[in-house]
Amino acid sequence: MKGREKLCAKLSSAFLRKWWFVVAASVGIILFGVIVIIFFSSWVNLVINHEVTLRNGSQSFGWWAKPPVVPMIKVYIYNVTNADEFLNNGSKPVVDELGPYVYVEKWEKKNIKFHDNGTVSFNQEKIYTFDESLSAGLEDDVVVVPNIPMLSATSQSKHAARFLRLAMASIMDILKIKPFVEVSVGQLLWGYEDPLLKLAKDVVPKEQKLPYEEFGLMYNKNGTSKDTVTLFTGAADITKYGLIDKFNGQSHLTHYTSDKCNSLMGSDGSIFPPHLTKNSTIYVYDKDLCRILPLVYEKTVKGSDDIPAFRFTPPLNVFGDVDENPENLCFCPHGPPCAPSGFFNVSLCQYDSPILLSFPHFYLANDSYRTALDGITPPEPEKHKFYIDVQPVMGTAMSAKARVQINLAVSQVVDIKQVATFPDIIFPIMWFEEGLDGLPKEMTGLMGLATTVPPIARAALAGVLFVMGAVLLLIAVWRLVRGANRLSSLHLAPGHVGPPTNKNKDVPMGNVPRN
Ligand SMILES: *[C@@H]1O[C@H](CO)[C@@H](O)[C@H](O)[C@H]1NC(C)=O
Ligand SMILES: *[C@@H]1O[C@H](CO)[C@@H](O)[C@H](O)[C@H]1NC(C)=O
Ligand SMILES: *[C@@H]1O[C@H](CO)[C@@H](O)[C@H](O)[C@H]1NC(C)=O
Ligand SMILES: *[C@@H]1O[C@H](CO)[C@@H](O)[C@H](O)[C@H]1NC(C)=O
Ligand SMILES: *[C@@H]1O[C@H](CO)[C@@H](O)[C@H](O)[C@H]1NC(C)=O
Ligand SMILES: *[C@@H]1O[C@H](CO)[C@@H](O)[C@H](O)[C@H]1NC(C)=O
Ligand SMILES: *[C@@H]1O[C@H](CO)[C@@H](O)[C@H](O)[C@H]1NC(C)=O
Ligand SMILES: *[C@@H]1O[C@H](CO)[C@@H](O)[C@H](O)[C@H]1NC(C)=O
Repeated sequence: MKGREKLCAKLSSAFLRKWWFVVAASVGIILFGVIVIIFFSSWVNLVINHEVTLRNGSQSFGWWAKPPVVPMIKVYIYNVTNADEFLNNGSKPVVDELGPYVYVEKWEKKNIKFHDNGTVSFNQEKIYTFDESLSAGLEDDVVVVPNIPMLSATSQSKHAARFLRLAMASIMDILKIKPFVEVSVGQLLWGYEDPLLKLAKDVVPKEQKLPYEEFGLMYNKNGTSKDTVTLFTGAADITKYGLIDKFNGQSHLTHYTSDKCNSLMGSDGSIFPPHLTKNSTIYVYDKDLCRILPLVYEKTVKGSDDIPAFRFTPPLNVFGDVDENPENLCFCPHGPPCAPSGFFNVSLCQYDSPILLSFPHFYLANDSYRTALDGITPPEPEKHKFYIDVQPVMGTAMSAKARVQINLAVSQVVDIKQVATFPDIIFPIMWFEEGLDGLPKEMTGLMGLATTVPPIARAALAGVLFVMGAVLLLIAVWRLVRGANRLSSLHLAPGHVGPPTNKNKDVPMGNVPRN
């Protein structure tokens, strides 16, 4: 009893207190290691959120405003090779897929203005330059394609009064407007003077006037867009980073019957909210798409410089009909009938022209639409599907293939002799692939760091803390045990009869440890 009390007194002596302090400190270090394990990812996320946020002068802002990338658009045109037989003899239309006609793009955001509420507005500039070496043809190639302005006008007059249809037929006769036009690829894309649009411009009352007298599938797209886009910088709410707040001052579309379908909360396809998971659904908005397009995780791929990326692609029922995807009901405000499965009706965004979008080669649509024409090979997902590869931690698109086919839904109209023999058909005009093959080294370098460094740093830091804590703890415990043993043997030695423990035999008197 007496010995133990003495021992306790000794243990709490100054020297031993020092080692108790070391024990406490090493336990603290180990706990810190645990905290690192638990919270390190959150700290890294805070740093990433800060880094990606668009702020004047930051690197991500520079990349966003003037991307150091080389996007390209590849255009494929369905040249109609039997237009006369089709019209006069009822033959199946035969098309010849021409292309790619490749344009290299240069993107820059103009008129950038930051707002106090964490948004930024700008006008997108895209400059397209034809690249002959990458193309399988020239811009001067002559193609035969359906006359979109004319067939739109006739399809729209389907339910008009008979005399109007007859009047339309004679006007078209006088102006020598035919259901197929022969134009160059450059004209089809960038615009040619269309007699019907010119006429409309002259006679239609000002309010209903079409804005142009030229027609082209990419008319007015070369240059700075007039559309002002306001998007979230991530400063106020990182979960909205890169998403559209307003498009031309409007916070939602007005074409459809529900808020969900009218939503504009999509990205332009280059940046997405960071920290994406395999469960995330991302959205892209494009004016010509006339809606936001959802994309879901498909697989993990190796992007530029072997940095892993999540491949996001539209769900298979994205353009499904109401049976296949009931959520699409609100996209059909004047239906039924609605667009068939695999098509999306963009009529409301295209001056009421009967334009239906689909994926190239009618991917995801009933095969009967493809086989209604000769010359279109069966769709191949790898060549024809739409996807974006996103670096999930930072939400940056690393490569993308936005593939869309433009079709004209032609309907047979009696009384207009030019199209009286034209069957109800969904006629493909062209498809394009707008995309990005990869990012430059300067961008992937940082992404590589963001993905590989944090886990290593976390493991290393936690490892160092654990080892340091454990070593200190062991030393301290060993010292305490040894100190205690020594004290007890010293204390017991004088009266002790048994052999002293050899361990303590050569320990000098006194409490000073040899160190
Ligand atoms: C497109 O088809 C027409 C025949 O309808 C043909 O004259 C023309 O050469 C074709 N264009 C190209 C680039 O092959
Ligand atoms: C019209 O079709 C018939 C068979 O249906 C064919 O024999 C004839 O050659 C075709 N005429 C033209 C101009 O293609
Ligand atoms: C960014 O800051 C610079 C210098 O302070 C200024 O000249 C420029 O107008 C700012 N840009 C934007 C988009 O606010
Ligand atoms: C932020 O401010 C801009 C300009 O004042 C405004 O157009 C936009 O609607 C605002 N956005 C939000 C989310 O408040
Ligand atoms: C687009 O505009 C630029 C100049 O602004 C011009 O050099 C280029 O040829 C144009 N591209 C097309 C396809 O017209
Ligand atoms: C993803 O979704 C699945 C099934 O809906 C769910 O079990 C899982 O917990 C989700 N994971 C995350 C990270 O949200
Ligand atoms: C496309 O939408 C327009 C306007 O809502 C409608 O009049 C037209 O019938 C639709 N076309 C198809 C093929 O669903
Ligand atoms: C495709 O359409 C045809 C005729 O319209 C129909 O009989 C067939 O069941 C459809 N196929 C699928 C897979 O929906």
